Amino acid sequence: MAKNVYVVGNWKMYKTAREATDYIESLAPKIEGTKGMIYLSVPYTSIAPAAHYAKETNIVIGAQNMNDARDGAFTGEIAGLMLKEAGATFVILGHSERRHIFGESNALIHRKVLRALQDDIQPILCIGETSKERDAGKTDEVLKEQLFSALDGVPKEDAEHLIVAYEPVWAIGTGKTATLKHIEEAHLFCRACLTELFGKKQGGAIPILYGGSVKPENVAEIVDQKEVNGVLVGGASLDTDTFAEIVQKIAGGGALKKTTTPKTRKPPIRRKKKE
Ligand code: PGA
Repeated sequence: MAKNVYVVGNWKMYKTAREATDYIESLAPKIEGTKGMIYLSVPYTSIAPAAHYAKETNIVIGAQNMNDARDGAFTGEIAGLMLKEAGATFVILGHSERRHIFGESNALIHRKVLRALQDDIQPILCIGETSKERDAGKTDEVLKEQLFSALDGVPKEDAEHLIVAYEPVWAIGTGKTATLKHIEEAHLFCRACLTELFGKKQGGAIPILYGGSVKPENVAEIVDQKEVNGVLVGGASLDTDTFAEIVQKIAGGGALKKTTTPKTRKPPIRRKKKE
């Protein structure tokens, strides 16, 4: 496959630190030969050991959430700088489980995106419509609202550090993958929104990944669709054989891209927004 693709695994609340290091030891040889980086989003307690074990491999480690403040009296929360020091290079933000189980609003996700950029952690912004919204013909409206609110005030020069993941809520963990037509239409729409936000060059270069019941059997045809630049894999990332098969199917030729998180960056411009 000619195009550059991203593969991100999202373990959710699975695997202890011990299991995480066993996993990396098992996965690394199975994905050797793919030139770029595989992203693994692991539980907080696994970040440091996983990053240590991933050092000489083509795996980078990230988190699944963070607080929007630099630090503060927020019992039980975790800051971007803490994740970064532990070895995380990226963070998943706005995942549908955060939005729907933990009630995260578009406004909060927006603040988290700005904070991640400020803390030099590459944000993977997740967006997606529920089945109710899809059935009501509101998919585009929801995607636009989620994208525009989360990325409001992000300067053009920071666009190259963003990754967007389109994950229809009804396809996550359900075994129901969206049709190829639906995936392509949604990705084309997201691309149009990103171009409107950041201009043709910067908006056109932001990777848009698909997530929702991705498995070895469907990954190649999904990545073949226009404007699909990779996949975000939940359940099928938990087993190294299955995940390696996904990676080999779409990136066996070594076409993966490297993370672009820079070492230093000015804080993004903030615009005032009501919750
Ligand atoms: P799934 O999860 O692959 O298990 O559907 C995707 C996700 O939650 O990112």
